Amino acid sequence: MPRKRLSEASLRLKQAFHPESLMMTYAYKPELSEGALKVPIFQTSTFVFKTAEEGKAFFEIAYGLRKKGETESAGLIYSRINNPDLEILEERLALWDGAEACAVFNTGMAAIATTLMALVHPGDIVLYSTPVYGGTDHLLKYVLPVFGVRPVPFRADACAGPDDLVAALAAADVAPTDPVSVLLVETPANPTNALVDLASCAEFSRRRGPGGRRPLVLVDNTFLGPLWQQPLRLGADIVLYSATKYIGGHSDLLAGAALGARAVLEPVRALRTFFGTLADPWTGWLLMRSLETLKLRMTSAMKNARYVADFLAAHEKVERVYYLGHLREGDPQYAVYRRQCSGPGAMVSFDVKGGEPEAFRFLNALRLVKLAVSLGGTESLAEHPYSMTHADVSPEAKRAAGISDRLIRLSVGIEHPDDTIADLAQAFQQV
Ligand SMILES: Cc1ncc(COP(=O)(O)O)c(C=O)c1O
Repeated sequence: MPRKRLSEASLRLKQAFHPESLMMTYAYKPELSEGALKVPIFQTSTFVFKTAEEGKAFFEIAYGLRKKGETESAGLIYSRINNPDLEILEERLALWDGAEACAVFNTGMAAIATTLMALVHPGDIVLYSTPVYGGTDHLLKYVLPVFGVRPVPFRADACAGPDDLVAALAAADVAPTDPVSVLLVETPANPTNALVDLASCAEFSRRRGPGGRRPLVLVDNTFLGPLWQQPLRLGADIVLYSATKYIGGHSDLLAGAALGARAVLEPVRALRTFFGTLADPWTGWLLMRSLETLKLRMTSAMKNARYVADFLAAHEKVERVYYLGHLREGDPQYAVYRRQCSGPGAMVSFDVKGGEPEAFRFLNALRLVKLAVSLGGTESLAEHPYSMTHADVSPEAKRAAGISDRLIRLSVGIEHPDDTIADLAQAFQQV
């Protein structure tokens, strides 16, 4: 079995090599799995204890009934608690963000929901940026309030400093001493690519700390991470992913992840066991397969997206393009982009001239690019956020966040960019 506790040698590897050099071999010992080069799929629900005493000790550690001894390792118990595929995956995924610890989940929503539920208490406030993915919006507006938690929104691109976050709370009648336990931001935001200044978030959290609980800064890094933005290095406490997107990268699995300091993730991991939101071994194995090509895929898609965005910006039937690579000096969002992102990614949204009928005619005419929600796969996808991913968001909130019925979201894949552009060009002829 590819157990446990990373050896000194593994730790040295981690310091010596880039993540992409470690994705094929890190945290796995072939000699413990019959010499298999690749990690086997540990497709088992439960694990056999050598003795009853061992089983008792594993449970004591897993349930936090006592601290782990110096020479003890947390044992394998049951695949809702831990499994080798998922443990090795977590070690590998953590390398990209420079995270101490990682917890994987069976969907991105499971990662977000489990993390939030582990960190908030009745009476707490969650300050969050808008827009956010429609599922997150629903969780914040309709699920958390059932448990006595109040969501307070602020506009992503209206945060020029920590004072703007203080002002958003004041505008919602939140007193300076009221418990704000979480600041949740999605940056770049789905679907407009609006950026939230992470330095302001970290500063806001520091300032609000004294005299009460410091709000933890949670960042949904699905659009750019883990390649082009690493929020933990910028003061965030937890990074969240829909690993269904770029990390999985082939539109053939659902998964999520939360990363951060071990102590911060501890309650999240504990709740994952009891909510049953850990991913399954097969998904863990698929994700390890995907991580080997993560940089190649994200780099290729990012290059293609620039050609696509330039084509769209020059097209007579396009009113506006939302693409990080087009931000220009003088725009406050450009300064944020330069501070916290190392590339513009491959998500491009645009307003078609007209409204829903024109947008639908365009979407219905696509041939190579598929009309589907989700993103971050090898194939290009297009969707209509107003009526699809953000269907559940109120018309007022959509208007406030800049999501109109003219907006189309493109996830650019790894096809030849000339082919993607040719497909978009012929679809515009139907508008
Ligand atoms: C930014 C973002 N976060 C979270 C999610 C939810 O992820 P999942 O569908 O894996 O639950 C999505 C899904 O589209 C997303 O776009």
